[in-house]
Amino acid sequence: MDFDCIILAAGKGKRMGTVRPKVLHSFLNKTLLVRTLEAVSPAESNAALKLRKIFLVVGYGQDQVRCALAEAQAGNNLISKIKIELIEQVTQGGTGHAVQTVLAQVKDLAAQVAIIPCDLPLINAHALKALTQSIPTPKTPVRLLTTTVENPYGYGRIIRDSSQKVVAIREEKDATAEERKISEINPSLYFFNTNFLAQHLRELKTTNAQQELYLTDVVGLANNHHYTVEAEHYPESQVLSGVNTITELAILEKELRLKIIKKHMDAGVSFEDPEATYVDENVVIGSDTYLGSGTRLRANTKIGTNCRIEGNSIITNSTIGDNCQIKLACLLDSATLDTNVSVGPFAHLRPGTQLARDVHIGNFVEVKKSTLGVGSKANHLTYLGDATIGAAVNVGAGTITCNYDGTAKHQTTIADGAFIGSNTSLVAPVTLGAGSITGAGSVITKDVPADALAIERTPQKNLADWARQKRTKKS
Ligand code: UD1
Ligand code: MG
Repeated sequence: MDFDCIILAAGKGKRMGTVRPKVLHSFLNKTLLVRTLEAVSPAESNAALKLRKIFLVVGYGQDQVRCALAEAQAGNNLISKIKIELIEQVTQGGTGHAVQTVLAQVKDLAAQVAIIPCDLPLINAHALKALTQSIPTPKTPVRLLTTTVENPYGYGRIIRDSSQKVVAIREEKDATAEERKISEINPSLYFFNTNFLAQHLRELKTTNAQQELYLTDVVGLANNHHYTVEAEHYPESQVLSGVNTITELAILEKELRLKIIKKHMDAGVSFEDPEATYVDENVVIGSDTYLGSGTRLRANTKIGTNCRIEGNSIITNSTIGDNCQIKLACLLDSATLDTNVSVGPFAHLRPGTQLARDVHIGNFVEVKKSTLGVGSKANHLTYLGDATIGAAVNVGAGTITCNYDGTAKHQTTIADGAFIGSNTSLVAPVTLGAGSITGAGSVITKDVPADALAIERTPQKNLADWARQKRTKKS
């Protein structure tokens, strides 16, 4: 049996205080939009009920949201598999109005529909399974999750009658002082019988503090019509935390960050300062590795055992083997390092960098789409782009691969054991044979045979006494 999922993402997020729509704010380097879509992805949805389609309600900042969605669909395996239809909510009249908009535009909704907001950073497939594990029926047409929090401020409160039946949800701004004390809250995860919504959603009214159509009022409506509301208490309240302000986002992010770091510490990873280190949730780190403060490990980065990352480096989607050293302040993006590699300080490894074991990359060296073979070194002030470099090659200080002619990129190939003199310009396409040497300061435009010396510069002239005479003339 299929179900659809409506994701409410049309709000501005006024309380964020930003022009950027709330759903495009990042939480541990992933937007709330992507986080929500990943949690709902079919790969993780309930096996008994299959997710058919997502209806994403957009409105405020929809051009930006549409762009972000297109980007995510192109580059994210989970999200690219889901069918997503965008529904435009032209004016944002509240969460109930957002759902009315979907019902007015979509005539073939599945028989049951899950509805979730797009501002729960830690929402996951497990919570969605809990929500969708029993199917809403014509008699029990509303199912929702509830949870209990220490500080319920800002959330809708769950109102139960004397027999503990859920009879209403009261928004913070509409609640009495007594109701505000209730710590059981509405995280905004609902599972509805679609026919029930079609029949009763139009009964919502704006007679409330915010003069909006609240989706939460559906619970009271269902109760008034003598339907049963099924509420399941979800014990892990953090997973269902909603964020409405930048402060809430930052506090929740820090909580999660420290949880992730604790997990790594328990597995034998050392931190110079756990509070000043930033590790995304999918990062893998081997034991006995040390992370200096200011280290940021992002996305799907993997670090081996016994590595030393000195600090202030940003390492994204990279794989680093065992016993590597990343010295102070390096930027690595989609780079692969074998074991015992040393990088930095101040090095930049861009996508497509592959370093074999024992490679040394020193300060102010930039590498892009290039491989360096076992034990090769580029220790100072160098740019290596589109280069295939063999083993035991020494790249002298100031060497540049001139890989771009203004139109196209060209390859440089340097075979095993070559020695590139300092300040060599390698004008690609060019190939240097095994064991060859280039003289310092040469501009190499032609291939160099194995074991040859290539030298390209005018012979040095020494003009005797010239300097002293110049000084005398001046004075
Ligand atoms: C909502 C719930 C509240 C719950 C809380 C959980 C209502 C009335 N209140 O409050 O009971 O405790 O979430 O986090 O539903 N949106 C639209 N169109 C609109 C308005 C909102 O698409 O016209 C979207 C927003 O983009 C957001 C979601 O709906 O993703 C929730 O809106 P938000 O303003 O954050 O509601 P809360 O005040 O947090
Ligand atoms: Mg909210």
